[in-house]
Amino acid sequence: MKIVVIQGPNLNMLSHREQTIYGGMKLEEIHSQMETVAKQNGFEIEFFQSNLEGEIVDRIQECLGDADGIIINPAAYTHTSIAIRDAISAVALPAIEVHISNIYRREEFRQKSMTAAVCTGQISGFGPFGYHLAMISMMQMLGELDALRKAQAAQQHVTKA
Ligand code: DQA
Repeated sequence: MKIVVIQGPNLNMLSHREQTIYGGMKLEEIHSQMETVAKQNGFEIEFFQSNLEGEIVDRIQECLGDADGIIINPAAYTHTSIAIRDAISAVALPAIEVHISNIYRREEFRQKSMTAAVCTGQISGFGPFGYHLAMISMMQMLGELDALRKAQAAQQHVTKA
């Protein structure tokens, strides 16, 4: 099973940008930890970062038929992008929204998420560790969905026989 991790604008600047808010970890370090966890648990994982809204929409659309779940930090687009919200909604995959900072403790304009309502859940305010929490939650969710699908397939097999 495959998880796609999508990172929005300025997250490529982690470790340089506002360290008191976002900490000192580089995006590559976060991704490398996620990759380790994915491998340990038998999941495939892919990473994508873009500063452009349309590219993020394209990458979400590409998940259809290719990925089983999406972990996304839309960054500033969280607060503005109906296009990203619609793309998440369109692919209808399990999706977890991550924010390094607690967006509800920050400026008023950050306290609204356009995308959270179309995600399965949101993790906000745990620093880079939030990505690890998202991984654990996603793997658990995909495991449960897989078990459910297998049970349904077995049930259909019994009904047909
Ligand atoms: C962020 C919060 C957003 O408000 C901000 O624009 C970001 C990062 C976070 O991870 O805390 O770029 O998504």
